[in-house]
Amino acid sequence: MIAGRVSTGISEMDALLGGGLERKVITQLYGDPGCGKSTLCQIAAVAVLRAGGSVVYFDPEGFSVERFRQIAGSDAEALAERLFLYEPMDFDQQGLLIAESEKVLKREKVGLVVVDSVTVLYRTELGSGKEAQRKLARQVILLLGLSKRYDLPALITNQVYMDVIRNVSCPLGGTVLSHLSKAIVRIEVHEGFRRAVLEKHRSLPAGGSFDFEITGDGIRAVSRP
Ligand SMILES: Nc1ncnc2c1ncn2[C@@H]1O[C@H](COP(=O)(O)OP(=O)(O)OP(=O)(O)O)[C@@H](O)[C@H]1O
Ligand SMILES: [Mg+2]
Repeated sequence: MIAGRVSTGISEMDALLGGGLERKVITQLYGDPGCGKSTLCQIAAVAVLRAGGSVVYFDPEGFSVERFRQIAGSDAEALAERLFLYEPMDFDQQGLLIAESEKVLKREKVGLVVVDSVTVLYRTELGSGKEAQRKLARQVILLLGLSKRYDLPALITNQVYMDVIRNVSCPLGGTVLSHLSKAIVRIEVHEGFRRAVLEKHRSLPAGGSFDFEITGDGIRAVSRP
């Protein structure tokens, strides 16, 4: 582990990111439904909890306690005591709760902030056009400010939409979200395996990748011929 980085709980993901999650910046995971975004977030949260830190976790999709139990194993209950979970019901509340979480950041030794996903509620606002983008930008800038002030990595997930002209899945949130995320990992679903691909990084070339399978207790990296 590179000094100052925070482990994702997966050595292959740490290596992909140049030594783990960088503090004071936003790392984004994006990909199709079911590609493994929430699993990867929960694994990272459990790694920080096991290392003795607290975790602030925003889950507007509804946190899966069952999956947390599978990933955390017999430690689940003890670890959950330092997991500060927020489940916003709408996009405005998400912004308010991100701001409110600073109380926890002031009080606890928080080692990671997760937002899974930052765009699920944003999606419901897309009809309001540019205003939705502005709100999203405000929320993510707020999150970035907290990560800087409290010297934390922020891990966010992002959903995709189908670009029918290019026939590819693209991350939501436009260029604003891409600019605000200093590391971006795309999770691809292939026949029988998933691939994590480094799409953007401040100090590494893009294109690195590793393959994995989702398992009962998290994920397992697999090597492919
Ligand atoms: N215990 C388990 N054993 C094996 N596979 C599992 C287990 N639990 C979940 N999965 C698989 O993990 C995948 C879902 O992963 P996850 O919820 O992390 O995806 P996601 O990218 O967050 O999806 P979404 O975009 O819908 O939120 C599904 O393919 C599911 O079958
Ligand atoms: Mg999910």
